[in-house]
Amino acid sequence: MKRKNYAGFYDWEFELICTRQRHDVKLWKKLATKYGGPILDICCGTGRITQELAKMGFEITALDNSPEMLEILEKKKLPKVQTVLADMRDFSLDRKFKFAFISYSSFQQLLSLEDQAKCLNTIKRHLTDDGVLGIDINPHVLEGSDVQEKEISYIADFPARNSRVTMFTSHKIDLKNQIKHWEDTYVEIYPDGRKNEFINRESLKGCNRDDMQLLFEKCGYNIIDVFGDFDGGEMTEDSWNMVWVVS
Ligand SMILES: C[S@@+](CC[C@H](N)C(=O)[O-])C[C@H]1O[C@@H](n2cnc3c(N)ncnc32)[C@H](O)[C@@H]1O
Repeated sequence: MKRKNYAGFYDWEFELICTRQRHDVKLWKKLATKYGGPILDICCGTGRITQELAKMGFEITALDNSPEMLEILEKKKLPKVQTVLADMRDFSLDRKFKFAFISYSSFQQLLSLEDQAKCLNTIKRHLTDDGVLGIDINPHVLEGSDVQEKEISYIADFPARNSRVTMFTSHKIDLKNQIKHWEDTYVEIYPDGRKNEFINRESLKGCNRDDMQLLFEKCGYNIIDVFGDFDGGEMTEDSWNMVWVVS
């Protein structure tokens, strides 16, 4: 997927607005320690989690379908990290992993059950016999109004680019297909008045607990745990997350 402009904003924006999600790092560290390497970070993006696991000494393969996101990860020059440009639905690597994971709702970028099953089957082929997969799902994707007209999400300085960014967000929920489509417009202004404007579109599929359980079972996985938060707490109706640990 082309993320030409957005990739350069990802790490900065994540720090700025993802105050809850950033606590996921501790869970991935804990699971990596429990299940061991080599590790496969699927939809690794700019390596937000990979970089933390690399510091712990793990050997990591970081996979994403965006060359722009991978380029940023590669510039971090992390030890024992290999990047792979590939689609999570269909990749073929010449090694197997003791632990694979998909963080931050990225699995929900697969918008059909068929694609989700394809992805889980592909991952299964890349796990060792005792290999474990972790997936963090956002169970609240379809909540909120069906249509949200364009509104300001934030205005913030971006010191590394010497610019000020206004981000406008809007969304539509496609209830029939259980998909939320976002359209985010970034307007970046430099001190001399120059302007850089681009749009980033994201779509996520709503996933509920029963569907996920069925999907895992159909794809030959055993459920080890379902956590409702990044501390390993129980999943309830009010939980912010739904983290699956399967083998
Ligand atoms: C929200 S970012 C998450 C990045 C990182 N895992 C994190 O937690 O910060 C989602 C990532 O999924 C990648 N992605 C989306 N669809 C993909 C696909 N079909 N195959 C591989 N990567 C994909 C995007 O390029 C993007 O880097």
